[in-house]
Amino acid sequence: MEPLDELRAREYPRLDELGQVYLDYTAGNLVPQTLLERHMHLLRDHVLGNPHSTNPASSLTTAYAALARRSVLEFFNADPDEYVVIFTANATQALKLVGEAYPFNSDGEYLLTFDNHNSVNGIREFARAKQCPATYVPVVLPDMRVDDADLTSRLTRSRPNGHRLFAYPAQSNFSGVQHPLDWIPLAQEHGWDVLLDAAAFTPTNRLDLRRWRPDFVSQSFYKIFGYPTGVGCLIARKAALAKLKRPWFAGGTITVASVQGDKFYLAEGESGFEDGTPDYLALPAVTFGLEYIASIGIDTIHKRVASLTGLLLERLGALKHSSGHPLARVYGPRLGDRRGGTVTFNFYDPNGRPLDHRSVEERANAARISLRTGCFCNPGGGEIALGITGSELASCFHQPEHETRLTIDDFRMCIDGKSTGAVRVSLGLVTNAEDVNAFIRLAESFLR
Ligand SMILES: Cc1ncc(COP(=O)(O)O)c(C=O)c1O
Repeated sequence: MEPLDELRAREYPRLDELGQVYLDYTAGNLVPQTLLERHMHLLRDHVLGNPHSTNPASSLTTAYAALARRSVLEFFNADPDEYVVIFTANATQALKLVGEAYPFNSDGEYLLTFDNHNSVNGIREFARAKQCPATYVPVVLPDMRVDDADLTSRLTRSRPNGHRLFAYPAQSNFSGVQHPLDWIPLAQEHGWDVLLDAAAFTPTNRLDLRRWRPDFVSQSFYKIFGYPTGVGCLIARKAALAKLKRPWFAGGTITVASVQGDKFYLAEGESGFEDGTPDYLALPAVTFGLEYIASIGIDTIHKRVASLTGLLLERLGALKHSSGHPLARVYGPRLGDRRGGTVTFNFYDPNGRPLDHRSVEERANAARISLRTGCFCNPGGGEIALGITGSELASCFHQPEHETRLTIDDFRMCIDGKSTGAVRVSLGLVTNAEDVNAFIRLAESFLR
């Protein structure tokens, strides 16, 4: 038996016992049994109190929080002299910390790829509130990669006065494309701060922060090892963090704040960015989770997911109607090169007309297959993939009845005839060939 098959049997027996086919790893990983048990033993056997005090219960929690910070730095091979770890509720909160505090101004720029999660898109609202332009770099079909020459010309254009932030995902949660990490030094050489959204990349790929030195990295831990939910982090270069101007202060973030003196002093480093009481009981489980992944080996996980993704793409691509029309149109690379285990597509009927993604989801649900449909909080990826144009969107959004409210059904009416979403299957830590087979059987049922 392969090590990952043994792991599946040992840590996730319920998957096969309950006859579940889980193909939604980009949304979240599954909970391994030993991680849960290790954490429960710790909580049961120790007295853990709220940190930020010297009492014994508090000191123990503080020590576990410090250990978790060291574990994160170690896992990503980050130099502790260069980087700090700020614990957050999730990747979204990490991104918001940067967006709300970045010194955008009218001489600066916020540059981002079309292919981004909404939590990165949303930062444009902070930029625009400070009169800073936000500019999108398109991705190009069929592979949904960025044109390198286009990006290079935007990154190397000089704009010397303002602060400039460039944000992109190391791996797309829409198409699975892995965007080049060597954009990081290129952008930095030309004066950009780089925000790397690593949320969809790190569950199956090594991110070495001594090799690549983005200014900010956003992360949610449940995507890497399934448990706990509710903890993420911002890994930030100290020099970049010093540029940020927090818009407020809160419990836990100051050294001194005064009512009558009307002043506050922000704590240095990570403390100045962790608002209120952290999820302190969960932090030891972050260490345990990272140890769990390290014990399997991220390269082992990567290899296995890459191989099964290749198999899935090959088999899906081979499915054809008797009319000769292909069943599926994949949005993103059809080969395994520079892509992860996220595969997004729509099915088509024998006449080449798209099938509603909701019908695929219904049939998958009935077969106990967990996949996901829609646009996955990545509207730029969806618009490019589905061929929805800026002018179509503008005419829809500018109708008087849509000024303040637009339901998904209104949206469907607006872009009549086009798909509004797609189907996504995503492979991960303990996907096996039988999961791929189960999905292909589901796909074949659309040929009949
Ligand atoms: C690429 C990417 N970025 C950011 C996020 C946001 O993560 P969270 O919802 O945990 O904040 C996700 C979640 O799916 C993601 O896939």
